[in-house]
Amino acid sequence: MHRVEILVLDFGSQYTQLIARRLREYGVYTEIVPYFETLEAVRAKNPKGLILSGGPASVYAPDAYKPDSRIFDLGIPVLGICYGMQYIADFFGGRVVPACAQEYGKATLELLGQDTETNPIFRGLKPKSIVWMSHSDKVEVIPKGFVELAKSGNTQNCAIADFARQIYAFQFHPEVVQSECGGEMLQNFAVKICGASTTWDMRRFAQSEIAKLREMTADGKVLCGVSGGVDSSVVATLLYRAIGERLVPVFVDHGLLRFGEREAVEKMFQENLGIPLISVDASELFLAKLAGVKDPEKKRKIIGETFIEVFEKEAKKYHQNGAIKFLAQGTLYPDVIESVSVKGPSKTIKSHHNVGGLPEWMNFELIEPLRELFKDEVRQLGRELGMPEHMLMRHPFPGPGLAIRIMGDVNRTDLDLLQKADAVFLDELHKSGYYDKVWQAFCVLLNVKSVGVMGDNRTYDNTICVRAVVATDGMTASFAHLPHELLESISTRIINEVAGINRVVYDITSKPPGTIEWE
Ligand code: XMP
Repeated sequence: MHRVEILVLDFGSQYTQLIARRLREYGVYTEIVPYFETLEAVRAKNPKGLILSGGPASVYAPDAYKPDSRIFDLGIPVLGICYGMQYIADFFGGRVVPACAQEYGKATLELLGQDTETNPIFRGLKPKSIVWMSHSDKVEVIPKGFVELAKSGNTQNCAIADFARQIYAFQFHPEVVQSECGGEMLQNFAVKICGASTTWDMRRFAQSEIAKLREMTADGKVLCGVSGGVDSSVVATLLYRAIGERLVPVFVDHGLLRFGEREAVEKMFQENLGIPLISVDASELFLAKLAGVKDPEKKRKIIGETFIEVFEKEAKKYHQNGAIKFLAQGTLYPDVIESVSVKGPSKTIKSHHNVGGLPEWMNFELIEPLRELFKDEVRQLGRELGMPEHMLMRHPFPGPGLAIRIMGDVNRTDLDLLQKADAVFLDELHKSGYYDKVWQAFCVLLNVKSVGVMGDNRTYDNTICVRAVVATDGMTASFAHLPHELLESISTRIINEVAGINRVVYDITSKPPGTIEWE
């Protein structure tokens, strides 16, 4: 077990987990608890510093989230971020008001020239740097005892501190990658101000997870849904290390896979991991249940439920030496936070099938060892477990598969079109060396028809949208700047090689405001 160095109180921000993640990058073991955690529980963890996260509420709203204010008497440094800052300002007698205009996106942070010895949070940083803003309230008047440390073009009091009480507060989000020096600011807070130690790493995580999985499962068998993606492959490998033959790894072909995916996954598991995979063809069942369903959330729920139905049926087949009690999934933190925040209140964006989509009637106990990790941390874990790089560097593929990349209802004709277009796109990316330069790339079938002309004939066919994004954790992403020549050959090849497609468009939306998938 690790000693908690920094504890984050979560007020429901979409970015809360990123705070922990950034700090863990610097080796600082950080945990997250909801903002209403009791003082006793906080004290029991004995952290060296506290961070109050952002959140969607307004501090002056009647039902605003308020932590136990005695946290300020614990004698440890506190850093407030966005809502966390507004709470601090309000609590200590400052004034928080609605900002004239919501400030969203990049801003230039200008340090106000304090001596970096007395102001260690900005030690070693440039006087001006880009930070990420996302707020609709602002601190108009700072409390007594606080000083202004930095401003931005639109926001006064962008960073404030009370050095005597060791309380710091930022209006911007240092935890998102768009904040150029944000990681260093968090590191300064944790290491220089709180004195946190920097000894946490993936090897320790792997060791403690393996021990935890052994203890949790006792002699029981664990069914692990394997998709061939990085997450579930890492979970299967971790479990295989922990419980060996008690792992029942099941790969469900739901008919919503990419071209040639099933064979590729079977081969990968056999050749690289030596884990005997059980393949189940359930495509008829999934497609029958999805027939005529257009609503994205309904599709996700149906897929989630059908997965469980298939898993339960499979589990019955492999229970000779005791029933399979557990279901292991490769759920990641971004899946969790965007469905329902486990550790505090946050808004629902979409129900990822392996989180919000699981039915209540399910008989399994869930095991989700990656639930608090980000994609790149999972890859690190995979490396630690000795998995080959080509398995770890595969692009993420969502559990609901191509169903959420076909706008409207899902049928075999559309699946066939999308599989073919997607295969061409991926082939072009591999050939050009761009596959490894982007986080994720795929086609979306828009089910929008348009008029075209091919070989002197009028066409009235479907549209494929090509999407490629760069990201480090999938929480935020930017559309990839693929070269125009590459886009040109992708478009030409898709239209020439996939009958039924006469138009190709490129998605130039980042996340936020978009999401990576279209549904
Ligand atoms: P969004 O679309 O939410 O996607 O920006 C973020 C990342 O999550 C993947 N994704 C899923 N993964 N089950 C999964 O296992 C799901 O239901 C699901 N939905 C989205 C998406 O491909 C991207 O990498």
